[in-house]
Amino acid sequence: METKLIKVNPENPEPESVNLAARVIKNGGLVAFPTETVYGLGANALDEKAAFKIYQAKQRPQDNPLIVHIHSPGELEKLVSGVPRSARILMEKFWPGPLTMVLNKSGAVPYGTTGGLDTVAVRMPRHPVALALIRESGVPIAAPSANISGRPSPTAAEDVYEDLAGRVDLILDGGPCEVGVESTVLDLTGELPVILRPGGVTREELEAVLGRVELDPGLAEGQKPRSPGQKYRHYSPKARVLVVEGPVEAQVRKITELAEKLTAEGKKVGIMATAQTRRFYGTGCVLSVGDREAPLTISSNLFSVLRKFDRLGVEEVLAEGIPETGLGLAVMNRLRKAAGYNIIKLE
Ligand code: TXA
Ligand code: MG
Repeated sequence: METKLIKVNPENPEPESVNLAARVIKNGGLVAFPTETVYGLGANALDEKAAFKIYQAKQRPQDNPLIVHIHSPGELEKLVSGVPRSARILMEKFWPGPLTMVLNKSGAVPYGTTGGLDTVAVRMPRHPVALALIRESGVPIAAPSANISGRPSPTAAEDVYEDLAGRVDLILDGGPCEVGVESTVLDLTGELPVILRPGGVTREELEAVLGRVELDPGLAEGQKPRSPGQKYRHYSPKARVLVVEGPVEAQVRKITELAEKLTAEGKKVGIMATAQTRRFYGTGCVLSVGDREAPLTISSNLFSVLRKFDRLGVEEVLAEGIPETGLGLAVMNRLRKAAGYNIIKLE
């Protein structure tokens, strides 16, 4: 299939373009579109056949459920069997935005969308292009990140094109994504709310309104994850990635030592540094992922920097870790997975 690429105004998308994209969704096709987190690969969430195309295009395992995107909080009722009080509070506070809630599904949502589960993950994004597309389509849109399964998530239309050209009908190019890591997936079906995937809304923000919020123990390496998507190799560039964690000065020393060793062995080395540390490195291809004092700069660049190392032909990426507070929790979750848990922890 030929993939159309259309530029849209991210703040105020042109109605003709939104219309065209909505027609593709209504006809059971695939549209990649920007959200505030990452680009999504969308199809009609209520049409099992359309949802199946998503799995094919992404080469995604079929037991990994999709997130259903809606354009207004009122649309939630139709998709779930009941809306608990906690969900009402969260919608009020964080929607539209990077929070996905897992609830018991209604009969309207096909199992082809939920990977066979009786629960459904729902989110209302805040990106104007995403909202306009969902509204105009007249149906909720199932959308995973618009990358080939296992690759870093796409935060620009070029990333989508790189992975999915020829596999998707249309890509709406609304420029780079603001948050850069995916939404927080929060399970509200049990006694206590549980974070299945850390993301754009932080644990601290959730706890400020809900009180105690658990982290799925499956998020740690080697545990059985409750969110099906967490068990697969993920976010990985072609290069090998090693994450160095611990005090910043120690990170810089270790990375410098490793970069020199690998370079001497003839390897093309990339260093994922930060605004604070980049000037300390003399070897390798050094890219700053962002400012340690402003974690949003780091989350928004993380996946694009990983993809950039690939484009530069880097074989070994040495990445600095950051503290797991605020957005740092989501950033480190993605980075450790990208590294296949290849981590050095320093004192
Ligand atoms: O920010 C985002 O969430 C992006 C944009 C496009 O909205 N979407 C996204 O989708 O990241 P995806 O498919 O790449 O990740 C969805 C995650 C997976 O880890 C999946 O297993 C989990 O949500 N998930 C979906 N439905 C679930 C359910 N019913 N129960 C538990 N986990 C679920
Ligand atoms: Mg994904």
